[in-house]
Parts: sequence; structure tokens; C-alpha cells
Amino acid sequence: MKIGIFYGSTTGNTASAARRLAELLTTAKLYPVAEATRADFESCDLLILGSSSWCDEQDRLQDDWNDAFECLREANLKGRKVALFGIGDQIGYPDAFVDAIRVLHDVAKAAGAEIIGKWPDEDYDYRSSAAIEGDFFLGLPLDVTNQPQLTEPRLKEWVAQVRRESGF
Ligand SMILES: Cc1cc2nc3c(=O)[nH]c(=O)nc-3n(C[C@H](O)[C@H](O)[C@H](O)COP(=O)(O)O)c2cc1C
Repeated sequence: MKIGIFYGSTTGNTASAARRLAELLTTAKLYPVAEATRADFESCDLLILGSSSWCDEQDRLQDDWNDAFECLREANLKGRKVALFGIGDQIGYPDAFVDAIRVLHDVAKAAGAEIIGKWPDEDYDYRSSAAIEGDFFLGLPLDVTNQPQLTEPRLKEWVAQVRRESGF
């Protein structure tokens, strides 16, 4: 079972979370997404996709995703599982908190993947997020600006959940 963590990061926050996820999962391969290809996406059984959110960008994704997004759109992810994580700032951007999770969710789902790793929206203080469905985020939101102390416990609990839901 191959696990790939694909991430884009401007100031290093998503990259730090991706590295910690790789440590916790032990067998996962890290892919800085700016260099990822369609074949890289299709080579994994479980894909973990991460991006910070940028409301000043048209698609709200972090810039490293620009080319990779097209590769992901063209990829065939049938039979693969996808889990999503996003870094955002719920106080600075309360109306678009971790919106990038939604963008990645929709493209992965359209590519045929099964989405796992949804996360309850308790313990966050935001007004609106495109990444919400009912009472759940479509992936794991992290806010290293306002809730740095919650990052590590959230990552640990989410990894346990992803393991359970993926069977890997
Ligand atoms: C110009 C700008 C726009 C941002 N837009 C959003 C946003 O729409 N939603 C959000 O949750 N966070 C937003 N953020 C916060 C970033 O996502 C946050 O700082 C994140 O930690 C950056 O992670 P990175 O270093 O991995 O890129 C924005 C930050 C800046 C500077």
C-alpha cells in the first residue's frame, strides 16, 4: 500500500504539517506538489492532499498547486482513497476558513477517489467555510496562527482516524 502526502506551502506551515504527518504515518512518501505529476498521483493507494488557503488567489489554493491541480484533474483515482488537510487563519479570514480543502475535495472526488478523514467543526471559531458539509469539515483544518497548541493532538487523532478509515 503506497501512501503519498502532496502539499503546497508558502511560508512553511503546510510543509511542517506534511512532514509531521509523514513521521506519524512512517511509510508515507512526501511530494512537494509543485513537482508532482499525474503518474505520482496515480501511483498511490492513499493520497493525502494539503494546501494553505489564499483568498486573494482565484482558486484559493496555495500557488504550488497551480500546475499540479491540472494533473490531479486529469488523473484517474478510481479505487484510491483521499484524505485532505488544510492550513488557515480563522481569525484573519473568518469567512473563508480553509476554503482550499473544498477545492481539493471536489477535484479528487471528480477524479473518482473515495474521500476519507472528515473532521467535526467543534473547537473552531470561524463564520463561514466552503470546506464545511453539515457539521463536518471535508478534511482536517489546522490553524497554526491562532491554535498552535492544537496542531499536534489534531494531527495524531486524525492519523489514527485515517488509518481506521483506510485500513492501511
Ligand atoms: C493574503 C493572504 C490570504 C489568506 N487567505 C486565507 C483564506 O482565505 N482562508 C484562510 O483560512 N486563511 C487564509 N490565509 C492564511 C494562510 O492560509 C495561513 O497564513 C497559512 O498558515 C499559510 O500556510 P503556508 O505557510 O503553508 O502557506 C491568508 C493569508 C494571507 C497572507
